[in-house]
Amino acid sequence: MLNIDNISFAYPGGNPILKEINLTLVKGENTALVGPNGSGKTTLFLLCCGILKEQAGKIEVDGKFIQHKKFNSKISYLFQSPDDQLFSSTIFDDVAFGPLNMGVEKKDIHGIVREALKRVNSEKLSDKSSFHLSGGEKRIAAIASLLSMNPEVLLFDEPTANLDSRNKRKVIELIQCMDETLFISSHDLEFLLETCGRVIVIDEGRIVADGPIREIMSDEELMKRHGLEKPHSLIPHQERHHY
Ligand SMILES: Nc1ncnc2c1ncn2[C@@H]1O[C@H](COP(=O)(O)OP(=O)(O)O)[C@@H](O)[C@H]1O
Ligand SMILES: [Mg+2]
Repeated sequence: MLNIDNISFAYPGGNPILKEINLTLVKGENTALVGPNGSGKTTLFLLCCGILKEQAGKIEVDGKFIQHKKFNSKISYLFQSPDDQLFSSTIFDDVAFGPLNMGVEKKDIHGIVREALKRVNSEKLSDKSSFHLSGGEKRIAAIASLLSMNPEVLLFDEPTANLDSRNKRKVIELIQCMDETLFISSHDLEFLLETCGRVIVIDEGRIVADGPIREIMSDEELMKRHGLEKPHSLIPHQERHHY
């Protein structure tokens, strides 16, 4: 579905951020992307959707190469901050923005927007301005603004950042119902355990582990080596620390 073939990248004048990254996402599967701060997770997502241009390698989505600054409706990026995604005067307009840009006819827009908001259980947000939404509502509305474009691959960059547990639960339930291919970066490993079957660990620009999420996250040594902690829920009860 998404094929990243030997991608290398450095910001202008900077050190290499990503070095020869190779990975393929399987259609319909959710894959987690973890790594310490600054390990290049956001950079990889920005390359995947064509916002940044790779210095070497190729990225392919559903058989088509990603081209720099060329919009590809098959892949959508959920920004780390919903404020970067929502910029219209109403949520309706935000959710309509993608399909209108794709050339969908005006008469079909209402139905598409309603459908996208319905998928995230938020039809009531349609006429509101993002300025008046809570952090959780913004996050959900931003997801609707991707779904309206009907993408096959969704890149979620820290989707639970700044959410309280009730809103986090909403995002988890939403992801569990989605049949698109998801690539999700997060520091919230418990959240990833609930939503992803596979994890990719990156550190210093390279993939250092790729496989079943429970197996990899249970490997305390590996996790520690890359600045991560084994999730609490994977530690057998009797071994947990008591305070
Ligand atoms: N626009 C930019 N210009 C120069 N360096 C950047 C830019 N954006 C990010 N970086 C650097 O690239 C590295 C990777 O950043 P990023 O992809 O945001 O990592 P992560 O999402 O894993 O925290 C960091 O060292 C960061 O400082
Ligand atoms: Mg990031």
